[in-house]
Amino acid sequence: MSTPLVSTVSAPAPPTTIPAVANGVRPHPPADIPHHVAVIMDGNGRWAAQRGLRPTDGHRAGTENIRAAIEAFAERGVRCLTLFAFSTENWKRPRPEVRGLMRILSSTIDREVKPLHDAGVKLRYIGQLDALDARLRRKIDDAIALTRHNDRMTVCVAFNYGSRAELVDAVRRIVADGVRPDQISERVLSDYLYTRELPDPDLIIRTGGDQRVSNFLLWQAAYAEYVFSDTYWPDFCEQDVDIALAAYAQRTRNFGGRPANAD
Ligand code: IPE
Ligand code: IPE
Ligand code: MG
Repeated sequence: MSTPLVSTVSAPAPPTTIPAVANGVRPHPPADIPHHVAVIMDGNGRWAAQRGLRPTDGHRAGTENIRAAIEAFAERGVRCLTLFAFSTENWKRPRPEVRGLMRILSSTIDREVKPLHDAGVKLRYIGQLDALDARLRRKIDDAIALTRHNDRMTVCVAFNYGSRAELVDAVRRIVADGVRPDQISERVLSDYLYTRELPDPDLIIRTGGDQRVSNFLLWQAAYAEYVFSDTYWPDFCEQDVDIALAAYAQRTRNFGGRPANAD
């Protein structure tokens, strides 16, 4: 039985807001709720600068709302949430900031894995794990192992993730496996990506006001909807979740075809 991620003073949400498991089968969320949401969590540095703080303080503040954000998406029926926390290009940042980000990931794992596990969250990781230090790698592996049987929601952390690096890795492994040119298809390439066990994102939210992709899920986002929020990530709250999901619900997705009701 999952327990809520965040305790609130209000009455508990009616059970229908979190899909119940009946005979082991979960009802699908309504069609206008995205199955997979991916978030580019941007704006930590500007949030900190506005307060006369260091970027690292912004990054730390940007972990304090994570649990509430995950819970808000879960309650609304989102089944998979990917969080972009550190890109392959973010190593260009000043060393104290990079070191701070590594420490913050480590302390966030220490603080959040147990409540997330209790809430039925399965944790996943995408990115280049090899470049992280051995203790941090072990923490990530342990969190994945602990939560592997949970099925309320999958939360995938993209850390040291870059879409171009992912594609280069995939091509290298395809060649190393001796896959012949005539065996290569979109399906095969997808199966070599870090995201092979995740559905493509339906909705990508970028916080912080910039309207760019910054090397995130380039292949997987072929038909994703984008929502750009001016909110700096540490301020991103339940209301911002609702705004993004409402914008998504207004969109018509064609996937290159005609809308369902067109002649
Ligand atoms: C996003 O916040 C987190 C990372 C890139 C690690 P930023 O640090 O990029 O925040 P801004 O864009 O400078 O405000
Ligand atoms: C994207 O933000 C990466 C993450 C949020 C982890 P950046 O702040 O690194 O993106 P750019 O450099 O402004 O494009
Ligand atoms: Mg930024």
